[in-house]
Amino acid sequence: MLPCQRQLFDIPNDVAYLNCAYMSPLMRPVVDAGMAGLGRKAHPWELTPDKFFTGSDKFRTTAAQLLDCSADCVAIVPSASYGIATAARNLPVRKGQSILVLDEQFPSNYYPWQRLAEESGAALKVVPWPEDNDWTAAVLNALTGEVAVAALPQVQWTSGGRLDLVRIGQACRRIGAALALDLTQSLGALPFSVGEVKPDFAVAASYKWLLGPYSIGLLYVAPKWHGGRPLEENWIQRANASDFASLILYTEDYDQGARRFDMGERSNFALLPAATRAMEQLLVWGVPEVSATCGALNRQLAERAGELGFSAPPEELRAPHYLCLRRKAGISRELPEILAREKVFVSVRGSSIRVTPHVYNTVGDVERLINVLGPQAGRR
Ligand SMILES: Cc1ncc(COP(=O)(O)O)c(C=O)c1O
Repeated sequence: MLPCQRQLFDIPNDVAYLNCAYMSPLMRPVVDAGMAGLGRKAHPWELTPDKFFTGSDKFRTTAAQLLDCSADCVAIVPSASYGIATAARNLPVRKGQSILVLDEQFPSNYYPWQRLAEESGAALKVVPWPEDNDWTAAVLNALTGEVAVAALPQVQWTSGGRLDLVRIGQACRRIGAALALDLTQSLGALPFSVGEVKPDFAVAASYKWLLGPYSIGLLYVAPKWHGGRPLEENWIQRANASDFASLILYTEDYDQGARRFDMGERSNFALLPAATRAMEQLLVWGVPEVSATCGALNRQLAERAGELGFSAPPEELRAPHYLCLRRKAGISRELPEILAREKVFVSVRGSSIRVTPHVYNTVGDVERLINVLGPQAGRR
């Protein structure tokens, strides 16, 4: 477990921010790195061609450590949707096959597959919500021979349910299905290893559990897809990109590894250093330690909320950092207003409250949420 790291963040004492799954706050050193990067363009004569490559490579190397893969397998993308669209463009699917998604899957990991299914004549197969909260068993049960692609997260975002991707990866390989992952609600907060899961593609937006800025993310591409087709054709993906004087000597060849899948203007001088700095801090803390720290706060909260009539999936089936509390009697309509007044920040969705703390939270923040929920008990 980590000691509270609030001093690294700019969070006022009267704010109980328990909503990292919505958007993480930036650490002060991350803001500094981003500001310094933005400032570089005040002096473009200092932005020499090598700077278009060094920042990108540092981002790749750092992301690769979090993913447990080679830096050559990391592409730089603006969003989860971009990464998933890249996967959907490259994974072969035919009529009679199916693409597997979860019930209530996040739209960025649903629409591209719906479109691909429509265009290829394949079926979209939706894993039904498991009454016993066991998403892994539900997915394993749905992984039958006709599945061409399993497009999944590591954490189901409306329940906090955790998927055992090692077992799911093994099952995919057994039936010859590709595995495309959206790790946006887990990478940085829940241990993950490309070496163990062996996905074909895996994407994560930076602005949640990677503690980075908005509009940047990472895409893992397995070596077998490195000859694939990127979403866009831009100059910096090509083999001759570092020779600025010869860019119009057009070439068929791409830069090595997953770099061909990089977005245009991938060398973003403000966002890349900030995202890299945030990932470096996560590596210093250690992802298992971040997970244990968030998990301890959520465990305490789940116990206290249980006394007030709220229930959560059992600990062994949910992600420690991601707690969705539900109440049979529902949640009173005034709750969002009361939470806002008390400066307690969580997400309220229908009859569920999503609580997602991070290393800046304290036991006091948990207490403040309980103090708001307490009077809710017995109310409709
Ligand atoms: C599971 C999941 N994936 C992806 C995203 C973000 O998607 P995008 O980067 O396409 O905006 C979110 C945002 O809430 C999310 O919860």
